[in-house]
Order: sequence, then structure tokens, then C-alpha cells
Amino acid sequence: MQYTKQTIITNKRLIGDIFLLQVTRPEGEIRPGQFFMLKSWNEELTLMRPISVYRFDEQSVSFMYRVAGKGTRWLSECSQRDRNKDIMLLGPLGNGFPCEEVHGHIALVGGGIGIPPLYETAKKLTALGNQVDMYLGYKDVLFAFEEFEDVSENIFISSEAGFEGYKGFITDLLKPEQYDAVFTCGPLVMMRKIVEMCQLHNTPIWCSMEKHMGCGIGACLTCSCKTTNGMKRTCKDGPVFKGEELVF
Ligand SMILES: Cc1cc2nc3c(=O)[nH]c(=O)nc-3n(C[C@H](O)[C@H](O)[C@H](O)COP(=O)(O)OP(=O)(O)OC[C@H]3O[C@@H](n4cnc5c(N)ncnc54)[C@H](O)[C@@H]3O)c2cc1C
Ligand code: FES
Repeated sequence: MQYTKQTIITNKRLIGDIFLLQVTRPEGEIRPGQFFMLKSWNEELTLMRPISVYRFDEQSVSFMYRVAGKGTRWLSECSQRDRNKDIMLLGPLGNGFPCEEVHGHIALVGGGIGIPPLYETAKKLTALGNQVDMYLGYKDVLFAFEEFEDVSENIFISSEAGFEGYKGFITDLLKPEQYDAVFTCGPLVMMRKIVEMCQLHNTPIWCSMEKHMGCGIGACLTCSCKTTNGMKRTCKDGPVFKGEELVF
């Protein structure tokens, strides 16, 4: 797969260290839960960084990202620093959430920066005739929650700081026995808990895993993930895995 040069349409801070990047859309079908490798810098030694698709339309694709270190900081500065509107994209990559495999009442559980990949997932599941409930867990500041109003039936919000919604963890609100399937993306500790809860009630559950990545295309094995079927590559075999398959 070749990377392509795209043009930055918007790259702005939303709140705190959360940014929204919108770029021209590369060719090819995009599935909810897929990601791209991104690079806005020329330094050869700094690898591309994986960021999930937040939203897309016919002309553009958007990413929501948190500034975590050097790469995402450069990304946040790119269109301001040098007025360079070019960005390199590799993708779409990975399998995405299995929207066609589930039917009925579906819970989507996102934690922190794991929330954005659930937007297109909720939109697709709703378009397929499912009833979608969102469970959005934050540490302190809230972002992106209003976007889900048009693509879900109910939105449950929690924050550890208690600024809005339930004060505590989003797992306190989820009742897996009410659902035909659960999709989740967020911190490992949250997803492990949700898998345990779902297994108690035999509710099918899929998790989007986050691992450090080098190539993004299955060649370097940086992103190995332990499963009951051996080591899998998060970038190529995932990032979405069935909960029962994961060895946490
Ligand atoms: C499939 C996938 C999808 C992702 N989608 C998003 C997204 O939509 N929005 C978003 O903000 N982030 C996302 N991430 C995480 C994002 O890729 C990392 O935050 C980013 O690569 C960090 O790069 P950096 O150069 O800014 O930080 P670095 O300087 O490389 O690291 C800064 C800190 O972040 C940690 N870190 C680095 N890479 C990762 C990683 N892959 N996962 C977890 N922690 C990491 C490091 O341990 C360190 O503590 C995703 C990761 C994966 C694997
Ligand atoms: S990042 Fe290279 S194999 Fe997954």
C-alpha cells in the first residue's frame, strides 16, 4: 500500500489537549473503526503515527487526537508552524468494527480518546436498523459527546472528576445483559473490565486494541497482541478483536 499526500482543511484545538484534524479524503472505502498512519513532518527517523477515523464524507476524513508526545504535538502544530497544508496518509488500515455481524440493541462504550472511533460506528449501526446506546467515559473535560445525539438512542456520560453526568467509571453504568452486543474502545483496564462483565452474561463483545505501531501494515511486529489463537498483529489482524479471544 502506498501513502498519499493529502491537504489539511482544518487542524484546530477543541478543548485542552484534544484536536480535530480534517483532511482531503484518499481513495477507497473506509469502514468504521479503521485507522490511518499519519505524518506531517519531514524527519525520516520519526515514524508515522496511528490515528482512528473519527468522521468521513465524500470529500474529507476527520481525526480527533490527543497530544501525547512528539508526533502528535508536531501534528497539532503542522498547519500553523510552516503554513504547509500537506499531510501524508497511509490507509485506511485494519479491520474495523463488525457492524454487519450484530443485530438489535447495541452498546458502544468509549473511554477518553477511544470515543471518536465510535462515531461512524454508531452511525452505521443505526443506519442498519439497530438501536444504539452510547456509554462515554471521561477523566475530566468532556468532548465530542453532542455529536452522538443524531446517531444513537441514549447517551450515558460519566467523568471521574464529576464535572458532568455520573461521577465515576462508565463501567458502573453499563448493564451488558440488556444488550445483544457491545463494542468498546478505550483504556485497556476499562476494556478488560467490560469483557469480564459481558462474559458473565454471554453478551458478545468486541474491543479495539491500542498498541505501539511501527509500520501499520503487518510487517514489523511492533504491535503484537496476545490472543487465545497466538500472537496477532494489531494493525493487520485488528485493531478490533473479539473479547473472548484477547489475553489481557
Ligand atoms: C489503532 C490505533 C488508533 C489510535 N487512534 C487514536 C485516535 O483516534 N486519537 C488519538 O489521540 N490517539 C490514537 N491512538 C494513539 C496514538 O497513536 C498515540 O497517542 C500516538 O502515536 C503517540 O505518538 P506521539 O509521538 O505523540 O507520542 P510518543 O512520544 O510516541 O509517546 C507519548 C506517550 O504516548 C504513549 N504512546 C505512544 N504510542 C502509543 C500508542 N499507540 N498507544 C498508546 N500510547 C502510546 C507513549 O508510551 C508515551 O507515554 C491510536 C493508536 C492506535 C494503535
Ligand atoms: S505496526 Fe508493524 S506489524 Fe503492526
